[in-house]
Amino acid sequence: MNIWIRGGHVLDPDTGRDGIYDVLVADGKICQVQEPGAFSGGEPEGGEACRVIDGTGLYVMPGIVDLHVHLRDPGFEYKETLATGGLAAAKGGVTTICAMPNTKPVTDSPDRIRTQRERAKKECLVHVSFVGAVTVGQKGEVLTDIAGMKKEGMACISEDGKSVMDAKLYKKAMETAAREDVLVLAHCEDQNMIQGAVIVNESEYSKNLGLTGVTNVVEDVIAARDILLAKETGARLHLCHCSTRDSATMVRLAKEAGVSVTAEVCPHHFILTSRDIPGDDADFKMNPPLREREDVDALIEGLKTGAIDVISTDHAPHSQAEKAKGFGEAPCGIVGLETSLALSMTELVHKGILTPMELTERMCHAPARILGIDRGSLAEGKCADLILVDPDREWVIRKEDFVSKGKNSPFDGRTVRGMVVMTMVDGEIVYEEA
Ligand code: DOR
Ligand code: ZN
Ligand code: ZN
Repeated sequence: MNIWIRGGHVLDPDTGRDGIYDVLVADGKICQVQEPGAFSGGEPEGGEACRVIDGTGLYVMPGIVDLHVHLRDPGFEYKETLATGGLAAAKGGVTTICAMPNTKPVTDSPDRIRTQRERAKKECLVHVSFVGAVTVGQKGEVLTDIAGMKKEGMACISEDGKSVMDAKLYKKAMETAAREDVLVLAHCEDQNMIQGAVIVNESEYSKNLGLTGVTNVVEDVIAARDILLAKETGARLHLCHCSTRDSATMVRLAKEAGVSVTAEVCPHHFILTSRDIPGDDADFKMNPPLREREDVDALIEGLKTGAIDVISTDHAPHSQAEKAKGFGEAPCGIVGLETSLALSMTELVHKGILTPMELTERMCHAPARILGIDRGSLAEGKCADLILVDPDREWVIRKEDFVSKGKNSPFDGRTVRGMVVMTMVDGEIVYEEA
């Protein structure tokens, strides 16, 4: 069915539209975007066959493109599946997911890419771009068939969860990525420096808990290395989950020097610090860990200036039993698909740090451009991946309300302002607030 959204506030960085428009969705595409009442006869052609939605007071945005998601399927279906991850994405306004390869088996071959893509088309409500591993089994020893995976529709490569510590091998991967025009998503973490440590920032808190934590340099040395490798090889590099002030600075300087680098930050890293960890609660344990005030300030500044291009989630569901093991033993990761827009609206837009249009750029348009997909736009003729957002609706994040299997969120109980009320993928409504 065609859909006519009347009088919503369109936010579209691609066309620059930032104001009240009528939007007609037909045959899965953005068919017309007009000033209200500009359709001849006050109605678009075929208007009588439309479902009409009153967009008054709502933002009409391109669907969110989340460059960093763990779907856990296959291998860890008790944490999340393609289906439950898709439901969570739709509810959070995310219409395209980049799925990281650390599943079991690892997504590390053309065959795995093909199988996963075929499954996702059937099982997941939203678009999934699969990320191929850099090394076979993510073991850091043998490079994967990057060209072969690309032929099967792989979106980009990443060793997320760790870094490839052999710089010679990683350089070779980057040379291939440059040749094949494949984006490299980098999880920056020196694997030697974390030996014997718990992933928590070294602070008063970690000392009080008797934990040996890690410091910013664990991230920073690899961020520096990877930027230099990108400079030398010409590969397109995207730094995952930047969490330190120095990584933000390095990205800015590298861009100024003309290196092909982009970066993302996750809501938890620009909202929380290690001081917010309430006790031995592993719902606050993620990798990289929560940092300090100066880091948060630098990340927010990076988002403001555009030195940091993208907000992604690093949605990393784990079971409640796993998280109950406490900070020392529990796996790293928190869920984010259902809360990222509301948290970003609350902390960035309502506090006057980003305009609604800038937020749309960071969450919808920039990630699509970096990934090289023809989405993240509400221009006429584009696929109708679109969300309706009530910018002022207050609600309380409750983990029991999540449709994701993961309930591991440090934001449980937090009041936020901004709610996704409808999500469309290729013109089909995949989520609608009850
Ligand atoms: O917190 C994290 N969780 N960081 C990662 O890099 C991996 C992820 C996971 O797979 O659980
Ligand atoms: Zn990571
Ligand atoms: Zn991750």
